[in-house]
Amino acid sequence: MARDVPRRILVLGGGGREHALAWRLAGEPGVEAVVCAPGSAGIAATPGVRCAAVDPLDPSAVVALAAAEGADLVVVGPEAPLAAGVVDALAEAGIAAFGPTRAAARLETSKAFCHEVADAAGVRMARAMAFRGEEVGPALAFVRDLAAAGAGIVLKADGLAGGKGVIVTESAEQALESAPSFLRGRPADAPALVIEERLAGPEASVIAVCDGERAVALPAARDHKRLLDGDRGPNTGGMGAYSPLPDLDESDVARILATVHTPILAEMRRRGTPFRGFLYAGLMLTPDGPALLEANVRCGDPETQAVLPRVDAPLAPLLLASARGALPDDAPAVLPAGGGATVAIVLAAHGYPDSPRRGDPIVGLEAAAAQGALVFHAGTAARPRLESGFSTSGGRVLTVVGRGASLASAREAAERAADAISWDGVHRRRDIALRVPPRARVPA
Ligand code: AMP
Ligand code: GLY
Repeated sequence: MARDVPRRILVLGGGGREHALAWRLAGEPGVEAVVCAPGSAGIAATPGVRCAAVDPLDPSAVVALAAAEGADLVVVGPEAPLAAGVVDALAEAGIAAFGPTRAAARLETSKAFCHEVADAAGVRMARAMAFRGEEVGPALAFVRDLAAAGAGIVLKADGLAGGKGVIVTESAEQALESAPSFLRGRPADAPALVIEERLAGPEASVIAVCDGERAVALPAARDHKRLLDGDRGPNTGGMGAYSPLPDLDESDVARILATVHTPILAEMRRRGTPFRGFLYAGLMLTPDGPALLEANVRCGDPETQAVLPRVDAPLAPLLLASARGALPDDAPAVLPAGGGATVAIVLAAHGYPDSPRRGDPIVGLEAAAAQGALVFHAGTAARPRLESGFSTSGGRVLTVVGRGASLASAREAAERAADAISWDGVHRRRDIALRVPPRARVPA
């Protein structure tokens, strides 16, 4: 692969995903400096990484920071700066930015738009319809249709909802009761609610580096979205992830790229809004093959923390090449991964996800790191100078990643390291990577 390595990289964001991105990029050959904005005190403790107190949602402030730092690549972590047009502003200033433009980010910011693009591209999603603020009657009629066909029902707010805003139910009554609240007071000129048939099966996250035309997949991962063991409780941003997936091998991932990512890229190009950046396919592996549940326009959190330590090829040159609009001709369909496995466990604050408590002192970070685990900071803050160390300062506080030769040994390492860390009211799942689903069926 032709390699043009960015020397100075600006990473936007400050969560666990961005910590993993900054850590990974700072450790790659030829990368001299990584600046993270706003980052956090925990991220700033990573060798080779500095943080800058700049608002990633402010396009002109980001352009000024990238210029001042001499960044030859900007990597955008979360969706909000993409939706705010940060990549558009950087492109206008002539600074290479890895991430979609605001127009291309609509794939995530509007679920109705995602369905429209997938339909046109021939990509399978759940049967669905989108409704505007005034369309309560038609929405209820569609719920009745789905119920009559024997399907469970999924209600999704159209727009960014941070992993919330989705109701999955077997009960038509509950769907009929909840649907109007998604529509009340919403404008009549844009979709407010997407109603889908409920699909069943294990989920998988296939994230690809895209240059507008081609896609190169990162190793596949599986998130655990529910708050409690056994996939019970409310949906969260994600409570843990693992990679690889024994039920989805590299040739399956290559077929998913060819049937999901590549057709979406072609349709986005056809519309005059080519997609560059991480395209994250949230898939359900149904008995009839994979169905796209959602497209995200960024890396997953906590999938990134599980996946990046496994990637066995330099990532920085690939991101730069994609940002410039041309992945190397000899780039593989799926990036090579080391033989081992990773298990990432999210440690969340007391009260997560509704009202996470801040300010609980964290103990055991050094002990976990001494075991060889990776500890990525998401919602932490440095404690006052005289005390030192970190305290909780967000919902998802840390991601602890265990590595091992097999999934079982990675799981053991992650559990042991997570056990070493504690604070008052810490919550985590104890079944990440515990039950691996049977082999998926992925038709060509
Ligand atoms: P989304 O934000 O669209 O990814 O939805 C969040 C979560 O809701 C997904 O990860 C699934 O667990 C669940 N979900 C979304 N759409 C469906 C569907 N059509 N059928 C079953 N579950 C779904
Ligand atoms: N872990 C799910 C997401 O990042 O959307």
